[in-house]
Amino acid sequence: MNDQYILGIETSCDETAAAVVKNGTVIMSNVVASQIESHKRFGGVVPEIASRHHVEQIIFVIEEAMEKANVKFSDLTGIAVTSGPGLVGALLIGVETAKTLAFAHSLPLIPVHHIAGHIYANRLVAEMEFPLVALVVSGGHTELIYMKDHGHFQVIGETRDDAAGEAYDKVARLLDLPYPGGPHIDRLAAKGQVVIDFPRAWLEDESFDFSFSGLKSAVINTVHNAHQRGVQLKPEDVAASFQDSVTEVLVKKTILAAEKFGAKQILLAGGVAANRGLRNRLSKAVEDFKHLQLIIPPLHLCTDNAAMIAAAGSVFYEKGIRADLSLNANPGLSL
Ligand code: KG4
Ligand code: ZN
Repeated sequence: MNDQYILGIETSCDETAAAVVKNGTVIMSNVVASQIESHKRFGGVVPEIASRHHVEQIIFVIEEAMEKANVKFSDLTGIAVTSGPGLVGALLIGVETAKTLAFAHSLPLIPVHHIAGHIYANRLVAEMEFPLVALVVSGGHTELIYMKDHGHFQVIGETRDDAAGEAYDKVARLLDLPYPGGPHIDRLAAKGQVVIDFPRAWLEDESFDFSFSGLKSAVINTVHNAHQRGVQLKPEDVAASFQDSVTEVLVKKTILAAEKFGAKQILLAGGVAANRGLRNRLSKAVEDFKHLQLIIPPLHLCTDNAAMIAAAGSVFYEKGIRADLSLNANPGLSL
């Protein structure tokens, strides 16, 4: 059997990324051009700036990915591209580029949902065993997904307001930490004590949904009230207490979902999967379950990249999923 080579393209937010993955599991190249420096001074991603950077970078990033993988377009099996969700102007650059390349080289075009990509980052480090439950936590998403097989996604829980990463970034801004704030809060939290009892949004019994806006407001109010009373709260204690609240809810709901759906594996995905508090707490919680395996990809595969898009694209290709040249960016695409 011939080897399968998929070129993955990802431009849904602020990383311009291209990668080549062999047989769905072997990373031949994984190139990411980050725009964080351009967005930092605005305290968040500016969509117009993101689109402009993607236009400037995309061809170079793809060329570099092809060169590093040492493949030609004639070696490729197909081109996988993130078609949604994300920023529409950003997504369009990847989608139009992928369509052009697929047309020019007569290659199949495979549309990939960004969250499916995050989940399939796990297949680059371990074999996926079903049924499984995936926790996807990033700047734009907080979702619990049940998979009974490859390519089969059932969203069993999602955030009703802020995404976990968004809450991290907002609390970080309150503490005067640079964007993106998640890693800074994580570092601070490691030095602090859990001394403030911030709320946990468990929502209704048996609900796997999340809510972080109440917690965010509680942190803001606590810090402002302390300031007004002239009380000096230690930022590291605020960070540790906030992180304790976020990770307790994420971990408990994920474990409950794994039990309910008889999962063999829990997969962690998305930028917040880099959080040490979350990794440690989830690893500990899984120890109580003999037949439950936890997979956490390395950091560079947790944040946005195109190897994960190619990995998902590989599975979708085998399932016969194709797009034609009418493929459009869909910022609200559902899984
Ligand atoms: O997956 P990602 O790169 O982009 C999106 O698709 O959103 O995730 C970025 C998010 C940001 O909100 C960032 O603050 C958060 O992931 N993040 C973290 C950590 N590293 C990144 N949050 C908490 N702890 C971390 N160590
Ligand atoms: Zn993402």
